[in-house]
Amino acid sequence: MQLSSLFLLLSLAILYRIGQDQVLSLENGLALTPPMGWMHWERFRCITNCTEQPNDCLTEDLIKGQADKMVSEGYLDAGYVYLSIDDCWMSKQRDSKGALVADPVRFPNGIKALADYIHSKGLKLGIYEDFGKATCQGYPGSEFYLEQDAKTFAEWGVDLLKLDGCNSDVHDMKDGYEAMGGYLNRTGRPILYLCSWPAYVQKDAALTDYPAFKKTCNQWRNFDDIQDSWDSLYSIIDYYGSNQYNLSAFAGPGSWNDPDELIVGGFGLSQNQEMVQMGMWAMMASPLFMSLDLRNVRPESKALLLNKNLLAINQDPLGKQGERLWKINKAEVWIKPLSKPGASAISILNTDNQGAPRVFHLSPAELGLPKAQKYNMTDVFTNKQYGPYMYSQSIQFTIDPTSMFMAIADPF
Ligand code: GAL
Repeated sequence: MQLSSLFLLLSLAILYRIGQDQVLSLENGLALTPPMGWMHWERFRCITNCTEQPNDCLTEDLIKGQADKMVSEGYLDAGYVYLSIDDCWMSKQRDSKGALVADPVRFPNGIKALADYIHSKGLKLGIYEDFGKATCQGYPGSEFYLEQDAKTFAEWGVDLLKLDGCNSDVHDMKDGYEAMGGYLNRTGRPILYLCSWPAYVQKDAALTDYPAFKKTCNQWRNFDDIQDSWDSLYSIIDYYGSNQYNLSAFAGPGSWNDPDELIVGGFGLSQNQEMVQMGMWAMMASPLFMSLDLRNVRPESKALLLNKNLLAINQDPLGKQGERLWKINKAEVWIKPLSKPGASAISILNTDNQGAPRVFHLSPAELGLPKAQKYNMTDVFTNKQYGPYMYSQSIQFTIDPTSMFMAIADPF
């Protein structure tokens, strides 16, 4: 081979490689603040027997009904824009061309028609698939069909893909999740990319590659599925508290740690515990995907989901994930810097379940706030103003069991 043609070949190879890298890295311009929406899984699960459970069965009508409420009850106006269908929406078989098909009985008009309906309401549609041979509930997975499935989703008008990792080899995940990110980008349609990959490899340090998660995904699950209980909720909060320096460093505009859905409005939490979830998800700059039946919401739960102070903290453009400063004797202090100069959100969490409120004495300095002469505090739940407090002045906080105090602290 002549030197010139060898040179040409090499250049082509390099160009091709660069081309590949360009489409592989996820720069879809989405999720500049933590994504917000509704996701069916935690509340509606894989309920497919519509005779037995007509009201809870996963159908086109269920999804449309939730969409209607997202708009009419003010959730869309508050920022909850994605409506995401999780596992169990599919037929058990692909069609003769290998394409995915929605269950013909429960989704008789198919996903494209549903997407059109969702879009007509000003919402965006999310969908679920799995990187492996089958989804966690046994429906067809994307293994060997990644590119075709990405194209199908884009043709249907899907705006979000949650890609789970059941029934796959964890060693294939890095290449596979990156490839799917590339295929999604190549469709030309902006599709928010939610990855479960980190949750599957979290126990294997060699496979836990946060720079790669951040480069590839807009949001990623790190840990266990949330269930409808305080124990489950607190185990998740404690996971992030214990791993914060590893995890908060990778959160920011475009890419977020995902502690799973909001269970506010479900069956398992007290009102105080619902405050803790909403407060902590705001604190941790977590994606806010509600999973509740929007046709029937207690007023206190609705007020929390729409609480303007909490949403402003969660959506703060600085995009800092809050960190746990300390945890002593079933009490914790968390802090999240906000974009307003010097301002922070602070939380005092009482995780004790003894049946009486506890008293804490803490100064702005002990709450970890940056040095300033004085602070005012706005209780995020009641919107009441407190202060001014001198930097070293001890303040009394009286907090119920499994509850929290949370405030925006403003220096002056
Ligand atoms: C789990 C996932 C859940 C839900 C479920 C569906 O692996 O973490 O969020 O999607 O699969 O089968």
